[in-house]
Order: sequence, then structure tokens, then C-alpha cells
Amino acid sequence: MPDRIPTNTLPLSTHASPTIAAIDLSALAHNLAVVRRHLTAPCNILAVVKADAYGHGAVTISQTLAGLGVARFGVATIQEGVTLRDAGLQAPILVMGALLPAQLPDLLAHKLTPVIHEPSIAEALAALVRSRPDPSPIHIKVDTGMGRLGLAPEAVLPFLQSPLCKGPLRVEGLMTHLADADGGDPDYTESQIARFRALAAQATAAGVSIPLLHVANSAAILRYPSSHFNLVRPGIMLYGYQSALRGPAAPDLRHVLTLSATVMQIKHLASGQSVGYNRAYRASRPSRIAVLPIGYADGYSRALSNRGHVLLKGRQAPVVGRVCMDMTMVDVTDIPDVTAGDEAVLIGWQGEAQITADDLARWLDTIPYEVLCAIGPRVARVYR
Ligand SMILES: Cc1ncc(COP(=O)(O)O)c(C=O)c1O
Repeated sequence: MPDRIPTNTLPLSTHASPTIAAIDLSALAHNLAVVRRHLTAPCNILAVVKADAYGHGAVTISQTLAGLGVARFGVATIQEGVTLRDAGLQAPILVMGALLPAQLPDLLAHKLTPVIHEPSIAEALAALVRSRPDPSPIHIKVDTGMGRLGLAPEAVLPFLQSPLCKGPLRVEGLMTHLADADGGDPDYTESQIARFRALAAQATAAGVSIPLLHVANSAAILRYPSSHFNLVRPGIMLYGYQSALRGPAAPDLRHVLTLSATVMQIKHLASGQSVGYNRAYRASRPSRIAVLPIGYADGYSRALSNRGHVLLKGRQAPVVGRVCMDMTMVDVTDIPDVTAGDEAVLIGWQGEAQITADDLARWLDTIPYEVLCAIGPRVARVYR
């Protein structure tokens, strides 16, 4: 059994927790190497660690990646950035989500770099930093076709040439986000990349030098080398998953997270007896039911009621009845010798069997991102 390294977010006593997300840091290092293999120097990496590093624990994930040479990090909110700063991370942190003017003092106090989606927020920032000796770094996001946050392409050059970007603010990066890098319309993605490239060229022609140009998420890293520019923003592939529906053969990624829960009790049901809320499952035969200490408040979705499966003794046990806030019941009638204290695996390997976040996503009609991000703070993160 590998050593269990304490997490930074939970007191030691919780390591006896019956519900654990075990994080394999060597798999993370392996996936980082896969990202690097797809890049041509001098392209750099900004690791996307928002949403608590997709449920993996942003502090330890970021510290580990920083130790492996990753120089930049991306989060969605100021609070996420502050958490990393409080843990001692000194690398540049880009706040990629939308900001309110009232949040800017916190952003500055923690040396976080904002993504500017529209000029008014840049004006508010400039007003705060005007008296400082050095300009504040910003990245500008242009909407080349995502239909979400960002400056319209035609607004970028005027903004870059405005007095804001010549005094109080320093444009360190220009970025865009791809709408369909993992989808089936390469022409659309190529047109977004081309639009971005044209804007970068316009800026250069106008004498504006922007050190960092970044476009690519995981799918684009794998499928669109022309999107790499000099910085890429991998998220899901660092954690061992792919979002691409088609395209080149899956690279050799390793899943980083294993989710497990200890069987707390075995119930013996007579035929006709029911399980859980609303009696949503009724035994059609004498049954043995294992009770697991994980529920929708931990991120194990209620939509898995009577639908999901877990592994016990290396075999699939179906979820029966409604997933509760704190508990889930599984049918182990066909799996001999399951007892209280056994480990059920909800995501990961057990023996020869595996359940992945992709499997849960299929059962839930969603994507692995949502499955991983949903794993809540009550689940103890244990780093191996
Ligand atoms: C702006 C931005 N860049 C990069 C990423 C990383 O995407 P992925 O996890 O698909 O690599 C995200 C995630 O949603 C994002 O919002």
C-alpha cells in the first residue's frame, strides 16, 4: 500500500474517513509529460486548476505541477487564486472568469492576473493602479466564436492602442477559447484559430508586442497543433481524461483520481422489501444491500439512483433506490462475502474491473468534467 500523504485542506483525523478521493500524483506527472510531448518548444503550459483542480484538490495539484516545472496556473475566481496564494504558490495565476470592479482590490492584493473581457473592467483596474510605479499585467480575452465572454475581434486593436494599455496596464497575454475543439466541426475551430492569428498579426503590425498568445485547451493540444502559439491551457488531460469525441487515437493518459467508500452496513431484505426514500427500489428476491457513506452532497449524483454501479470484490454492484444526501445503497446479492469494512470503488480500478468518470458521465448524460468537479469538500483527498 503506498504511503498516504496528508492533504493541505483537511485535518489529520479525517484520514480515517470512509469516503476517499485518492489522488495519484505520479499519474499527474505522467499526464503532464504527455502534454509536453505534444508541444513544440518554446510553447509553455498554464495548468488549469479551477474548480479545485477539477475536484482533485487545487493546492496539492498546483504545488506538484509547480515542482515539475509548470510556470503558470489558471483559475476561474479570485477566491480560487487566493487559496493558492495562501498556500504559498508564487507562480503567476490567471483569473479566467468574470470579475466585478469591487473584486479588484483583492485581485491586486494577491498578485493575481485578470483576464479582461471588456474595457470597463480595465478602466476600473487602471484607476486603482495608476499611482503605482509598475504597470499591472492583464490578459485580454477575445471572443473569436465561443459566444461567451470576451472582446469582439474588432474591438481588440483599438483597446490595445488605448491609453489604458500604454500606462497603468501592461498587456501580457492575448487569449481566446475554442467552442468545438473536441467536436466534429474542424472548419469552425480552424476559423477561430485563424481569426486569432490574424488579430495577433494586426497587433504586431501596429507595433504592439504581446508576450503570451494562448488558445488551446486539452482537445486542441491533441488535435490542433496550429492552436498552440506559445502557451497552452490544459485542464482535463492533466487529470487523465479526454474530452474529444473523435480524432486521433487517445494518448496514453492515466486517470489521477480514485473514489472509494467503505461499506458501513449490510442489510438483508426479504423479497418485496424496499430500499430508501420513496421506496424507489423493491427487492424481487431475498437480497443483500450494502450501505455506502457517500451521497449527492458529496457529488455522487442523485441521478445515479437505480442507474449507477460501483465495484465490490472486483465486480459491479448496481445502485438501488434513491441516492441520498449522505448515503448510497448497492445490491451485493450476487457478490459473495461482501461485509461491512470492504472498500467499494465508485471511480477507479478494483481487481480487473474499472469504472471511470466517463462511465458515470454516460450514466448521467453529462461529461467527465462535471463528474470530477462535483466531488465535494466532504470527501477526504488523500495524495499518493
Ligand atoms: C478558458 C479555459 N481554458 C482552458 C480550459 C481547460 O479546458 P480542458 O479541461 O478541456 O483542457 C478551460 C476549461 O474549461 C477554460 O475555461
